[in-house]
Amino acid sequence: VLSVSLCALLGYLIGSLSFAVWIAKSRGVDILKEGSGNPGATNVKRVLGKKAGNTVFFLDFLKGCVAVGLGLWIVGDPGGIAGAVGAVLGHSASIFIRFRGGKGVAVTMGALLVLMPITLLTGLVIWVITFKVSRYVSLASILFAISLPVTALILNQIWGLVSQPLVIFAALIAVLIVVRHRSNLVRLINGQEHKFTGKSSQ
Ligand code: G3P
Repeated sequence: VLSVSLCALLGYLIGSLSFAVWIAKSRGVDILKEGSGNPGATNVKRVLGKKAGNTVFFLDFLKGCVAVGLGLWIVGDPGGIAGAVGAVLGHSASIFIRFRGGKGVAVTMGALLVLMPITLLTGLVIWVITFKVSRYVSLASILFAISLPVTALILNQIWGLVSQPLVIFAALIAVLIVVRHRSNLVRLINGQEHKFTGKSSQ
């Protein structure tokens, strides 16, 4: 129990690293006040452009990989899951930026690459299709999140490819990501959500 908690704590600290805030700050921008105000890759791309946005995505993605990798290395499977949950929570409520944070999509993708790659792949396909059709990053992220427990459950029930703790983990992460997108949901319902159109973004 102690070592699993340690993995969660380490994951939390790694997840807390607020690359969006710091990279934007280095360019003289307070990302918490610009665009959607979200310290994530999408908003950095929106405000500072493609290169900065991609850098934030890569670093946030890496946080998920590292947190899971450390957990797996220290304890094994339960440690990997604990590290992943810690990282997503840390990213969403960071100790370095007064418990503010992003919506957990990139960090979840990184964690899933190590923990459940097939589930990630299915989610990515859904993300890409939703985005291509709607141009809403948030809608793509929400459907990506919802797909995770569905895919995990199917893989668990039919092929036994995914363990039960991972199905529960996927469900928990899905709830977390959807809850973090509640302002986007309101905007989507009201038809006020920003669309990404071509190079410049809104
Ligand atoms: O991953 C975040 C994305 O789904 C929405 O970001 O900045 O449009 O709220 P944003």
